[in-house]
Amino acid sequence: MFFIKYYITTPIFYVTNKPHIGTAYTVIIADILARWHRLAGNDVFFLTGTDEHGEKIEEAAKKSKKTPQELVDEVSEDYKNLWKDLGITNNDFIRTTDKKHVETVGKFLTEIYKKGDIYKGAYEGWYCVPDETFITELQLVDGKCPICGREVKKVKEESYFFKLSKYQDRLLELYNKNPKFLMPKNKSQEIINRVKSGLNDISISRSTVKWGVELPMEKDHTVYVWFDALVNYLSAINWPNESYKKYWPADLHLVGKEINWFHSVIWPAMLFSIGLDVPKTIFAHGWWTVEGKKMSKSLGNVVDPLDIIKKYGNDSLRYFYVREIPLGDDADFSEKALISRINGELVNDLGNLVYRTLTLVEKFSGDIKGNKELEEKINIQKINNYMNDFDTFNAIEEIWSIVRNTNKYINEKEAWKLSGEELGSVLYNLLESLRIISILIAPFMPETSEKIRKQLGNKVENLSDCTFKTYTGKVKKEGHLFEKIK
Ligand code: ME8
Ligand code: MG
Repeated sequence: MFFIKYYITTPIFYVTNKPHIGTAYTVIIADILARWHRLAGNDVFFLTGTDEHGEKIEEAAKKSKKTPQELVDEVSEDYKNLWKDLGITNNDFIRTTDKKHVETVGKFLTEIYKKGDIYKGAYEGWYCVPDETFITELQLVDGKCPICGREVKKVKEESYFFKLSKYQDRLLELYNKNPKFLMPKNKSQEIINRVKSGLNDISISRSTVKWGVELPMEKDHTVYVWFDALVNYLSAINWPNESYKKYWPADLHLVGKEINWFHSVIWPAMLFSIGLDVPKTIFAHGWWTVEGKKMSKSLGNVVDPLDIIKKYGNDSLRYFYVREIPLGDDADFSEKALISRINGELVNDLGNLVYRTLTLVEKFSGDIKGNKELEEKINIQKINNYMNDFDTFNAIEEIWSIVRNTNKYINEKEAWKLSGEELGSVLYNLLESLRIISILIAPFMPETSEKIRKQLGNKVENLSDCTFKTYTGKVKKEGHLFEKIK
């Protein structure tokens, strides 16, 4: 029986971009959190998907001489396949062209309309197609998009508006009352200040864009792509069918910082309007650059995660992502940095620990039992608390301190000089520590965890098994877990 549900989402990605190490980051971190909650016995629903409507996709299809439908079918498959190759354990993959989602968007907008929060007007201003964002004159930076720095275009068209301005006070109250709503803390003030400075109503329909969900109030308009996209978090769990209550409100929307505004301001206001609970946390993580530069097609420095995992394996990339920076900070990717993590920490710390321990165990024929002197140094609650606070960085640091400590124990005991009962006791401590390490790293490095578990001859276990027990495994040593890279 499950008792606690955990609903976690990633952004749904535009099918105009090929997945790269930035997109893979969000999905891998979400996967780590999802796996951790499953390990803790929670009922997890982990959602990702693709964002398939709007002007940008309409344009991209035209350029590649495909229909929008052909384009979205093709690229959404690429995303699905990549996540499979990366071992992502999402429970569902939503596409905004799914019939179920299109219908839900219609129902959602109709509800808001009934609440009196939608009115007809005209939009005149700027629009950034790559970011699908309306931009006011004031927001322009050197005449360009404030988010991505690219060219914006002038738009003047009939449009429906959502009364975002009406929700200013409720949003501020939400931020104030729920300190975990805006995360990380160091980014929340920026949002709060912007909301305090006043909110404008926003355009939610396009009369010049054809590739989108039909606006229920006027069939010649399509729904503005962000108003369509955000609703995915509800359509995936079947809202308004009662069953959505099993998972709603979402526990975490993990997003990149450039789309924090949509998730932290517009989305809760939409939910306020129709009277639904708001998600518990919006976490805006940082951006990855590659060797100090922003990834871009024109620079040709877009890193394909598939190339990386073919060379270094899934677990190395996952470990690197978590270990390199606290969730929320910006970071830089380079193969050099990745290799140094692999050689320094995966080969030397973890790989060595497993190899040394199993070498000693194989030569030993006595009973593996004794005191539990290493157990007190393992603080599972502390790690679980970090994970509940989305602090993957300190969680892995804490797990690694167990790894280092266990290695140190071998040295301090000079285990290779021991024999008989004394050695039996040291090996007991080592094997139980390793068993627990293999459980704790499972969400971070599932393949490595499995390899250790098999060599130890243990069964599959979860977080509640992280205490020292009677040793029952049957060790079968294999090669090194990680290869040193030159
Ligand atoms: O914004 N570093 O889709 P998108 C870190 N469809 N993360 C990165 C990154 C980088 N360099 N580049 C991309 C959209 N990301 C909308 C979302 S949600 C209802 C709709 C990740 O294809 C990060 O998670 O532009 C970012 O928010 C997301 O990809 C943007 O993906
Ligand atoms: Mg983007």
